[in-house]
Amino acid sequence: MIRLGVLASGGGTNLQALLDACAARRVDAEVALVVANVPGAGALARAEAAGVPSLLLPSKGVERAEYDARLAERLAGAGVDLVCLAGFMRLLSPGFIEAFGPTAQSRGCPRVMNVHPGLLPSFPGLKAQAQCLAYGARFAGCTVHFVDQGVDTGPIIAQAVVPVLPEDDEAALTARILAEEHRIYPQAVGWFAAGRLSVEGRRVRVAGAAVPARGLSSPHD
Ligand code: GAR
Repeated sequence: MIRLGVLASGGGTNLQALLDACAARRVDAEVALVVANVPGAGALARAEAAGVPSLLLPSKGVERAEYDARLAERLAGAGVDLVCLAGFMRLLSPGFIEAFGPTAQSRGCPRVMNVHPGLLPSFPGLKAQAQCLAYGARFAGCTVHFVDQGVDTGPIIAQAVVPVLPEDDEAALTARILAEEHRIYPQAVGWFAAGRLSVEGRRVRVAGAAVPARGLSSPHD
């Protein structure tokens, strides 16, 4: 069973999805530490409710490399195998990414994952859902990817697609995407925990996973 460190800045619904998947044994992992960088983040209350160790490490006004060194130290101290960004609204420094780089035990996979509310490489960065609506895309979705030193640029592990409906506003689209995040993030973490992921260049292989037979179109009759 691997040990997860989950980093969050907000409400923590993705943290909850991971906690639930671990508790139900759908994922062979346990959440060893939750770290929030924003006081009052809902993720802290969720960790407490689940009886999981948590830590508030405020980032405001702290220099990035110094903050990330403290963060890496706490995660390593908790014996974390995989760091999961779950609405963690900060960029991580190269030093942090290196500290959680590939090991023999991770089968060469990086050890930081993120979930992003957009179909990368479209709409990286902040407010992906608003970017998607403003662009007029027919489909939106979410991406689980390994984290590299760029912004939302690391190798893609899983994606899920949702339609953009004519009446959508940002809140409606965000909710539809979030439901898919809650499904594919635990799935991707489960694959990592089971040693099913490997990375070849930018392409992530998932041993034994199914793929869709054909495409979708929208609008359609
Ligand atoms: C999620 O939609 C996640 O994809 C997004 O923040 C939300 C956090 O929700 N992350 C990013 O935009 C990172 N660039 P949560 O706190 O309820 O899990």
